[in-house]
Amino acid sequence: MIRSVILGSGAAKPRTLVTNDDLAKRVDTSDEWIVQRTGIRQRYIAESDETTADLGERAARAAMADAGVEIADIDLIILATSTPNNTFPATAVDIQHRLGMKHGAAFDMQAVCSGFVFALTTADTYIKSGQAKRILVIGSETFSRILDWEDRTTCVLFGDGAGAVVVEAQEGVGMSNDRGILTSHLRSDGSHKDKLFVDGGPSTTQTVGHLRMQGREVFKHAVAMITDVIEAAFDATGLSADDIDWFIPHQANRRIIDASAKKLNIASQKVVMTVEQHGNTSAASIPLAIDVARNDGRLKKGDLVLLEAMGGGFTWGAVLVRW
Ligand code: ACO
Repeated sequence: MIRSVILGSGAAKPRTLVTNDDLAKRVDTSDEWIVQRTGIRQRYIAESDETTADLGERAARAAMADAGVEIADIDLIILATSTPNNTFPATAVDIQHRLGMKHGAAFDMQAVCSGFVFALTTADTYIKSGQAKRILVIGSETFSRILDWEDRTTCVLFGDGAGAVVVEAQEGVGMSNDRGILTSHLRSDGSHKDKLFVDGGPSTTQTVGHLRMQGREVFKHAVAMITDVIEAAFDATGLSADDIDWFIPHQANRRIIDASAKKLNIASQKVVMTVEQHGNTSAASIPLAIDVARNDGRLKKGDLVLLEAMGGGFTWGAVLVRW
């Protein structure tokens, strides 16, 4: 059986670090409020010369170097983003060009904060169907560009960044001790659109728009949706919370992550938490957290990793992968 094995990973952060105290000089907020409600202490914000394509390209190059592959080895690039450089062409195609790739294909995928999980699942499907052998999966965002910097209820929550992985087709035996993606589960429900959306777009306002969120409503649904899709992943594989080595969730809010881990009986020492360093970087948050756990020596070959995300749409999903 063909498995999609993660060969390497990489990340890129913008140059400028913005602390909660820095934000408190711009809007009526405080470090205490932000930390208590979200766990966030700082975030990186892109300068005008740092775009989604720039950050995505840097993360992609780091992931290819870590995987020990050249651009000639890649047949597909999937970029998860909700903050593309242009309405079209896809930012993935721009990154493809910057990387000097003339063959294969590249496209963007839009599932907001669940984007990386959706992109990784799509890559797995391409690999399992034999349509690609090595895929670059990138999550890159410049959410600072779509924030309303007058709205303290949203602007304190998000940050910019990018992360990437290289996924390769390898033979497995079809058991849960195989390396690679063991199962993935995606969900969406458009009836929740008004709870988290951007109030602009080419076909409506002809503007880019700003992020709008009913924070309490999002919070209310997040834990139930996250645990539901993770239970589906456990049911599909016969694995349980005890079997996983690392839980790497989308990094939106410490309270959502803690509540989900508790409900699923995942021990707190298995949770990779980076929301305090990066804020919510949407589709980039999981690969940025992967990079942290790789670099500090926690995440190693053979580890069983549970990835999970939930975001605008709503969209949500989970992937179980053996590193
Ligand atoms: N600084 C200080 N005070 C603030 C701020 C701020 N930045 N923002 C809001 N407040 C005030 C409000 O005005 C309100 O004041 P009031 O009581 O006088 O009216 C008070 O704080 C409480 O506001 P709530 O919105 O009720 O605060 P809550 O405890 O719900 O926390 C938060 C807000 C952090 C947004 C929370 O609802 C949350 O985390 N929701 C999940 C949203 C999320 O993570 N979204 C990310 C995208 S989706 C995803 O990735 C899963």
